[in-house]
Amino acid sequence: MNDSQLTSLLNKMTLHEKVGQLVQLATPFFKGASDQGQITGPMQDMGIGHDDIENTGSVLGASGAKETINIQKKHMEDHRLGLPLLFMSDIVHGFRTIFPVPLAIGCSWDLELAEKSASLAAKEAAVSGVHVTFAPMVDLSREPRWGRVMEATGEDTCLNSAFARSFVRGFQGDLQQDAYKVASCVKHFAAYGAPEGGRDYNTVDMSEWMLRESYLPAYKAALDEGCEMVMTAFNILNGIPSTGNKKLMRDLLRDEWNFDGVLISDWGAVKELIPHGVAENEKESAQKALEAGVDIEMMTSCYFKHVGSLVEEARLEESMIDEAVLRILRLKNKLGLFENPFREANEADEETFILAPEHRKAARELAAKSVVMLKNEEALPLQKNKKAALIGPFAANTDILGPWSWGGSAEDTVTLYTGMKQHLNADDLLVAKGSGIETGTEQQLREALQTASEAEVIVVGLGEHSDMSGEAGSRADIRLPEIQLELLKQLKSLGKPVIAVLFNGRPLDVRDIVHHADAVLEAWYPGTEGGNAIADILFGDVNPSGKLSMSFPFSVGQVPIYYNQFNTGRPKDAPDAQIRFVSQYLDIPNEALFPFGYGLSYNTYHYSNISLSTEQITPAEKLTVHVDVKNTGSMAGEEIVQLYIRDLVGEVVRPLKELKDFTKITLQPGEAKTVEFTITESQLRYYHPDLDYKSDPGEFEVFVGPNSRDVQARKFKLVNA
Ligand code: IFM
Repeated sequence: MNDSQLTSLLNKMTLHEKVGQLVQLATPFFKGASDQGQITGPMQDMGIGHDDIENTGSVLGASGAKETINIQKKHMEDHRLGLPLLFMSDIVHGFRTIFPVPLAIGCSWDLELAEKSASLAAKEAAVSGVHVTFAPMVDLSREPRWGRVMEATGEDTCLNSAFARSFVRGFQGDLQQDAYKVASCVKHFAAYGAPEGGRDYNTVDMSEWMLRESYLPAYKAALDEGCEMVMTAFNILNGIPSTGNKKLMRDLLRDEWNFDGVLISDWGAVKELIPHGVAENEKESAQKALEAGVDIEMMTSCYFKHVGSLVEEARLEESMIDEAVLRILRLKNKLGLFENPFREANEADEETFILAPEHRKAARELAAKSVVMLKNEEALPLQKNKKAALIGPFAANTDILGPWSWGGSAEDTVTLYTGMKQHLNADDLLVAKGSGIETGTEQQLREALQTASEAEVIVVGLGEHSDMSGEAGSRADIRLPEIQLELLKQLKSLGKPVIAVLFNGRPLDVRDIVHHADAVLEAWYPGTEGGNAIADILFGDVNPSGKLSMSFPFSVGQVPIYYNQFNTGRPKDAPDAQIRFVSQYLDIPNEALFPFGYGLSYNTYHYSNISLSTEQITPAEKLTVHVDVKNTGSMAGEEIVQLYIRDLVGEVVRPLKELKDFTKITLQPGEAKTVEFTITESQLRYYHPDLDYKSDPGEFEVFVGPNSRDVQARKFKLVNA
């Protein structure tokens, strides 16, 4: 349909039919859904009736070709104008083939593979009848206490923005041209990743300067890539809940950024304007959300119940409703739903594509690239002829998919035990649990110590169960539960090499683990092929290459901690620093235990000959940075070479370092490559006190290295033309 046909369709709709398009309900509400058991309860609680459901515009969480086709058919039969539904779901890091959680993907620094993972997830979802995914989640976070930190790619603006683009390309591609794509919905707008105290849904209060500098660019990057939808955040931002925040949605998103796609609330967030204390009742919630620009209300019924009377009472213009409906009709049209309401839902294709070998292969590759080796004192790689004991609550645990993997299943999941079994003779792999995740028994510990004493090397799988992170999964203590630390200590006392493999959804305080283990692999929630991927690394078939996309604190007392901090007026490491009156903790270091960008490999890489093409550029000129990187180890490997910049004097303070570029190179043993980076004036811009985004002439430092700490520096100047 063209736009005038869509407008004439809109003109045929009654106000109630229009409002229906602005509502999203979960699957059990719809005829044809396999799970209709709960329909009476929620429908009654929400105060909506069958007539409302028949006019609803979109469904949350339906999947499976059979079910989505069924629902769509019945819905279109019942709708007076035969309008199709939009099917939206959270396909965050895989549909049925589960890839590592996004924070882990961030540690791969592999934009191509990330894109591929999203495109394979889209393929599985599309044939199951999904039209829109609520991803990518790009909320920058410096808060390991926050459970949802695992849903985005980390603490850095540049890296997150690059991943945001990759994910949108992978999920959505060209929606009208490419096969097996789903529309992307970037979330959660805005700054959901900065809740006070790391407690989910909590207050976010930050200057507009900080918001623009660090938190907004990744959302913008997703939109620049063509992302079709935006979801609001649950939090307040500077006193106003995002879902009712006109300045954020109308002024910034719509007017300044020209976003003309669909804006959806998070689940229940429109009605939550009441407990937030900015709306007196549901009617006022509906008014405020619509005025702020929220097109679709997810899973509450303020719009259904009150938009009609708000328009009648002239508290809302019907034209505002029309604009919102038109945006939704345009998206349905872009997806081709008026011509083919089932789009690519197809049971035969589900059989072919879901968990296809190619998908599993990519999941294994990405999981291996996401693993970060934090420590290795000659304990890894394991030798295939040595008897190994695999101990711990994650030794044979299928809970390694992570939050938002509702389409994945335990029976498809390769555990660490199954993965390791592929590399050893059956008699050479002994296994015992040792403890549960939060509790354990003496008997379990005894058995584990006995088992471990019969082996030459001990691998211990430790971590958080998946409910310990994710939504509403905040933790104030980010160490592993005591029972697991005790297990590790006891295993270490056997005097054999101990390798800890960690499964978790946040940066942890890993001091005790690092102290008691000879090697530590951070495996995150690695997904369906996790056990295979980790075993590939343990046995040296794959050389670890992942680097942290979030700092690991020395202790929770440092949080929020991030590499791109500002200097203070009394920096601790200044040459003339006093002993006492400097910015420091009296009891712990200032520095992270493992900084952003950090990760070991079985090789060492030597960085030398860092040179700049010139010491001075004008805004129209470019500067190239060269560095030689040599593999001084005995295995082929991938190294992530990182480039940071510091603006030495600005009109506002500038971070000590900011990631501006990176590249991944593969090096054979003994091989050296020259890496080239290009610096342009646009990378030197920042938000000035008046929020002007521009660069200043002056001196800059450029740093190159294998992580944000171990860098070599050079200087250059930006001068006026
Ligand atoms: O997309 C999610 C969001 O991230 C959290 N609340 C529920 C939404 C829909 O499932």
